[in-house]
Amino acid sequence: MNIILLGPPGAGKGTQAKRLEEKYGLAQLATGDMLRAERASGSELGRQVQAVMDAGKLVSDETMIALIANRIDRTDRKGFILDGFPRTVPQAEALDAMLAKRGIKLDRVIELTVDESALVDRLGGRFTCATCGASYHGRNHRPKHEGVCDICGGTEFLRRADDDPSAIKTRLEAYRRQTAPILPYYRDKKILEAIDGMAPIDGVTRQIEGILNGVTGD
Ligand code: AP5
Repeated sequence: MNIILLGPPGAGKGTQAKRLEEKYGLAQLATGDMLRAERASGSELGRQVQAVMDAGKLVSDETMIALIANRIDRTDRKGFILDGFPRTVPQAEALDAMLAKRGIKLDRVIELTVDESALVDRLGGRFTCATCGASYHGRNHRPKHEGVCDICGGTEFLRRADDDPSAIKTRLEAYRRQTAPILPYYRDKKILEAIDGMAPIDGVTRQIEGILNGVTGD
């Protein structure tokens, strides 16, 4: 099974992808995490994308398409969850071509809808595990054991440079202008399903599981 989680910054894509990976044997392919890993490694690509990411703008389609093609080829699980890709219509078209060439089917595109004021609050309060990238929130989603990541047991946490108010504004604008136009593209293909991303985290997971169980026949 291969799915896309689509939604604005802070919608909960990363939080949900991490929960679904194990249950369904899927690989989370998160382009933001890939870029942050490039930056942490000090690679040429990491240096090139640093300023663009911190400002909240999108990295070029060409760079992102090459990056994701490479990861899809290296995935050895039962399928993938795309988180943060595609983000523009050219990326969606390139993904289709990439999957067709490899004989891979895209089963569902799940859109998480969240009010803009909630997005600003979520991003402003977010901190992430330095080891695995799992997302938490200062008020509404703290680790079960204080200071220990629920997913990997890591004990170091970070705040993202692009979670400052000016970059959040730019990211939300980029979503409205460049990413939201993807929705009709997938609606026309009849694989788009929207869910209520304002529900509590467990409630959002249940809605996604309902859709995925329909795909697997469970
Ligand atoms: P990326 O890392 O993909 O960031 P994003 O899309 O802005 O999404 P986020 O990771 O911020 O949010 P999320 O939806 O995963 O929310 P989360 O689960 O963390 O991209 C970063 C940058 O990389 C881009 O700006 C761009 O520069 C570049 N980039 C990446 N991909 C690209 C591409 N394809 N093309 C071009 N450039 C690209 O949750 C957020 C917070 O809310 C957390 O604190 C969480 O605990 C909390 N929360 C989650 N769910 C709920 C809930 N239901 N109720 C209450 N709180 C919740």
